[in-house]
Amino acid sequence: MPSAKNTIWERFLAPLIRPLIDEPGLKRFYESVDWETEADRFRQPNLEYPEYYSSQNFHGVKGGYLNPGASVSYDPVTQYVLPPNETWIRQGLVDRIGGKPRRILDLGCGTGSTTVLLKQAFPEAEVIGLDLSPYMLFMGDRKAKQAGLRIQWRHGNAENTGFPNASFDVVTASLLFHETPPAVSKTILQESFRLLVPGGQVLILDGNQKTLRHTEWLTEIFEEPYIKAYAEGNVDAWMGAAGFEAVETQEHWWVNQISRGIKPIPGVETNPTKPFYQQAGNNISPDNDDLPGIPAPAFENS
Ligand SMILES: C[S@@+](CC[C@H](N)C(=O)[O-])C[C@H]1O[C@@H](n2cnc3c(N)ncnc32)[C@H](O)[C@@H]1O
Repeated sequence: MPSAKNTIWERFLAPLIRPLIDEPGLKRFYESVDWETEADRFRQPNLEYPEYYSSQNFHGVKGGYLNPGASVSYDPVTQYVLPPNETWIRQGLVDRIGGKPRRILDLGCGTGSTTVLLKQAFPEAEVIGLDLSPYMLFMGDRKAKQAGLRIQWRHGNAENTGFPNASFDVVTASLLFHETPPAVSKTILQESFRLLVPGGQVLILDGNQKTLRHTEWLTEIFEEPYIKAYAEGNVDAWMGAAGFEAVETQEHWWVNQISRGIKPIPGVETNPTKPFYQQAGNNISPDNDDLPGIPAPAFENS
């Protein structure tokens, strides 16, 4: 798995994590996959990669997520950089979802670790993971199949997904915004607003912006090109600007935060304490599997 030399990642973090990882096993797996054939199962040939994405290394990996090696090393490394426990961190986002959503979109789903938890929590919901990297989608699909879960994977840009208006009850993004320039994160929140039904929820799990602002060494060590700009920003303000109401961010195990916003139902005061389906004025029944004009399952692709 090729990686840039002499980066902070290579010099400090990789030597700490490397002994904990079965590198020969990962290498064998990497070499056993015909990456381009597998990626072609997901690849949308006309998709244009944004410049911020295709021009950068992430975590010291040359080519970032468009290098298949990044998708192989992602899970083994991530388990050690989400203290105190990766699943607790991700589950915090899932636990904050109110009601019983019928359709969930996980943006920048990567290898699908949060997507899988979403499907396990809401087995009847149609769950879709969207990512710019066909290699990450391959790993997500593999993980879902190993867990016996039916999840759909979409190669796409979270800024402009191509899904119809009001087609999801819940839109999530975990560990995405520290990897996107703030202007892109704001566009993704506007797109999330468009995609949600009235009363629908957006949930963003990512690094705690307050903590990151005061721990420069953390922002340095991870080799993330946009993390400093992320730390200086404010997800609450970005959500408010996109039109969300009842916006709140909670610290999650010091290093992370979970932000939630609700798309208002016109003419109805947003009540953050009630599950969104049950809010007066939203005539969508929790027992009806169809979203208005979009019968379920709507986006079946496999
Ligand atoms: C740090 S990973 C997070 C993956 C996963 N959500 C998780 O929690 O482990 C960031 C992911 O976002 C994807 N990504 C970055 N910009 C994107 C965009 N504009 N649209 C869709 N995916 C994007 C990358 O390909 C990568 O898989």
